[in-house]
This record gives sequence, structure tokens and C-alpha cells, in this order.
Amino acid sequence: MSAPPPDELRIQSDSPQRTEQVGLALGRLLRAGDLVCLSGQLGAGKTVLSRGIGAGWGADPPLSSPTYNLVHEHQRENDGARLQHIDLYRISGPAEAASLGLDDILEGDDIAIIEWSQRIGDCLPKEQLRIDIELADEQARELIISARGQRARSLLDALRDTALSRS
Ligand SMILES: Nc1ncnc2c1ncn2[C@@H]1O[C@H](COP(=O)(O)OP(=O)(O)O)[C@@H](O)[C@H]1O
Ligand SMILES: [Mg+2]
Repeated sequence: MSAPPPDELRIQSDSPQRTEQVGLALGRLLRAGDLVCLSGQLGAGKTVLSRGIGAGWGADPPLSSPTYNLVHEHQRENDGARLQHIDLYRISGPAEAASLGLDDILEGDDIAIIEWSQRIGDCLPKEQLRIDIELADEQARELIISARGQRARSLLDALRDTALSRS
């Protein structure tokens, strides 16, 4: 019997393009209700990764850095499915998260991508794919991907198969 695959996937990225490409592979795998939580310091590449995820999922126009609104809704043309891109960088705490309607989003069928999810940590439901981006130097990043729950686990396994097949 072979050992089960590890619960964590680490991907090295040497350019924004590579990070976006990993996002693209993940975006293609997402389906209704999936939650992706992104953490990492300012400039780590959370928005770059989000843009890739959005493109892989089918967002048009592309995801950008949410400047004024903390929540950006994207609707896919072919089937009307929705993706919520959330950036909690400027949030004051869990109370403000509640005022954003985050609970409703997380309970609903929309896909949610949350940048700076560490800001509200424990308030998030358990099932989620977590990606922490570590900044090593100007272009080098490490994407540390881990799964909470069964669905996230299968996403992680599928991503392992697809994202690593290149390189
Ligand atoms: N390997 C890499 N992956 C992602 N971004 C990178 C990488 N190398 C350099 N960058 C740059 O780092 C910045 C990341 O910005 P952004 O995605 O907005 O960060 P965050 O959303 O985490 O604050 C961009 O300017 C991007 O071009
Ligand atoms: Mg950002």
C-alpha cells in the first residue's frame, strides 16, 4: 500500500506569471460553494493569484485589487454562476465582516476568494482551501496550500496533479 498524499502542497513560483498560472489551474477546478482563503503579507501575490483563479473560473472582466469595496462580485456569462472576491486588508475586525454580509456569502452557493483571511481567522467556516504565500525575495514566492475538509482535500489533490504537471 502506498502512503496517502500529504495534506499540504508547496509550489515554488519564480514570477507573477507562474503564480497566475497556478491560480488558473485552481480556478478551473472550482465549483459552487468553494471557499479559498489567501494569506501572506502585502505584496506577496494574493491579488495576482486571485486574478489567475478568476481567469481559470471564467471571470470577465478580470479580478483586480478591490480598492473601495471590500467585496467584488463577478458573474460568469455562460451559466450565471457567481464568484465573490473579498479583500479584508482594511477591515477593522469580525464585526465589520458581519456588516459586509460575509456570513451570507459563505453560506450561499457563490465561490468566495478571500484575501487577508487571517484578519478574521476563526470566524470562517471550516471547509476551505488555504493558500499562504511566503515572500522569499523580489520574484520568489512559496505557495503553501492546505486543505480543511473533504472537498478542499480533493481540490488540493486535483491541483497537485494539474499545477505540477508543467515545470
Ligand atoms: N512570483 C511572484 N508571484 C506573485 N507576484 C509576484 C511574484 N514576483 C513578483 N511579484 C510582484 O509582487 C506583487 C504582488 O502584488 P499583489 O498580488 O497585489 O500582492 P497582495 O495582494 O498579496 O498584496 C506584484 O507587483 C507582482 O508583480
Ligand atoms: Mg491584494
